[in-house]
Amino acid sequence: MSVLGTGIDTASPAFAEAREAMLSKLAEIDAEHDKALAGGGQRYVERHRARGGLLARERIELLLDEGSPFLELSPLAAWGSDFHVGASLVTGVGTVSGVQCVLVANDPTVRGGSSNPWTLRKTARAAEIAERNRMPLVSLVESGGADLPTQKEIFIPGGRAFRDLTRLSAAGIPTVALVFGSSTAGGAYIPGMSDHVVMVRERSKVFLGGPPLVRAATGEESDDESLGGARMHAEVSGLADHLAEDERDAIRLGRRIVARLGHRRAGPAPRPSAPEPLYPAEDLLGVMPPDLRVPVDPREIIARLVDGSVFDEFKPSYGGGLVTGWADLHGYPVGVLANDHGVLFSAEAQKAAQFIQLANRADTPLVFLHNTTGYMVGREYEQGGIIKHGSMMINAVSNSTVPHFSVLVGASYGAGHYGMCGRAYDPRFLFAWPSARSAVMGPRQLAEVLSIVARQSAARRGEPYDEGQDAAVREMVESQVEAESLPLFLSGRVYDDGVIDPRDTRTVLGLCLSYAHNAPVRGTDRFGVFRM
Ligand code: COA
Repeated sequence: MSVLGTGIDTASPAFAEAREAMLSKLAEIDAEHDKALAGGGQRYVERHRARGGLLARERIELLLDEGSPFLELSPLAAWGSDFHVGASLVTGVGTVSGVQCVLVANDPTVRGGSSNPWTLRKTARAAEIAERNRMPLVSLVESGGADLPTQKEIFIPGGRAFRDLTRLSAAGIPTVALVFGSSTAGGAYIPGMSDHVVMVRERSKVFLGGPPLVRAATGEESDDESLGGARMHAEVSGLADHLAEDERDAIRLGRRIVARLGHRRAGPAPRPSAPEPLYPAEDLLGVMPPDLRVPVDPREIIARLVDGSVFDEFKPSYGGGLVTGWADLHGYPVGVLANDHGVLFSAEAQKAAQFIQLANRADTPLVFLHNTTGYMVGREYEQGGIIKHGSMMINAVSNSTVPHFSVLVGASYGAGHYGMCGRAYDPRFLFAWPSARSAVMGPRQLAEVLSIVARQSAARRGEPYDEGQDAAVREMVESQVEAESLPLFLSGRVYDDGVIDPRDTRTVLGLCLSYAHNAPVRGTDRFGVFRM
């Protein structure tokens, strides 16, 4: 058993500077989180309350077991777009009647809870999380359906939301819809596709077309209640299984439904005791230098995440740019892969490929802590087979079937992002620290490459190269790519599941491990052909 030591000097100026930088980035992220919490703003919140409605987060809170955690996902979705931060939807995982469920709640205070392109991405991600981790999905519905002005971005891909619901059901993963208000047109298929449906008397409105549309289509005069009211659906159409007297009653019924699902966790239980790390999580605020080119020993991070700071390192003297080893996290065994000095060489890639295979043999989930600038370039490395070795690592991570969890703590560039189980590699969950940066390559290198290409192109055409313009273009490209590499930007596009406070990393990973153990945790010995 090896207990990690620490070399962090919390009294040093470098630590203080890094901590300050991290706290200021956190404050920036928190200000954006506050926008999501504010929903559509005071006017719409007050109007919603005046009508007797509970807010989306209040509904969630009442649905969850008292005192149990709720891990909100993608709260920054739509950041940087024309839509409200949060994308008029709250998603996350929480415990309902003792069962971990994925919750998807429309926020009716934001443009009537209508779905824009970011809402779709967020909904799809929530369904994916339910499916991969075999957790029931509960929809808390009150939505104006598609955001009509952006229908062209929504209509065709948006149909998938209903397909996802029925495919969850087909896979034996229960789906529950609690309909608090409007669920019209396409939205009517949310209750239509769910296993269990609750509607609220005089509040739920579920129809393919409301009275004005029906009048236009067929000339028939009708009213909301007879077309799609809760009582009609409970007594006449049969679309509602339960008629709730009010919102709280609907939530009570939802809790009873989940209690009766007979849901069983398929993964192994954690160890009964999980000692806290030996070093305070608070230190994680100062561990990442503001300049990501400064090397960081990832053992300092691992020592603050894993149980008792116990870490059995694998191949400690080989491929030192990638630290690999075994630990427990909140009682769940994990294999950890963490970048050390940025670049991945052949040795690191081969070590990773072997380690991932071993984790699969042992049915052990993997945690990836990203801080890499990518695979090494240059003649020596190309001739040494860096492509085939990087491919071995990407092959291993692509075909591995144990749950993967990625945390971008620093740089996550190029194919290194892929090899470390980036978003396209289906990690069960992926979070970023505020210090993270992710792009095809570093902004300076990208600007440099573009400049070289433009210079060569001018030479081929026999034209003089404008050096003054080159400097301006380079600066512009660099700052654009820098902005596009930031966690706020990437989280806004739902490329991660959220930006987290480094101090919360152990808790977040512990929750995610627990969620993943709703599904069987099984490795594989089937990988692609490893090029030797
Ligand atoms: N697309 C875009 N914006 C929408 C919208 C939609 N589908 N539904 C509502 N909004 C906007 C409204 O224009 C309004 O904007 P404003 O405040 O800037 O004027 C805001 O959201 C609130 O809508 P409002 O109608 O005032 O709220 P409400 O709570 O009284 O009613 C609905 C909510 C959803 C019942 C009602 O807006 C509605 O019927 N919307 C259309 C539903 C529909 O037929 N959708 C078909 C989509 S497939």
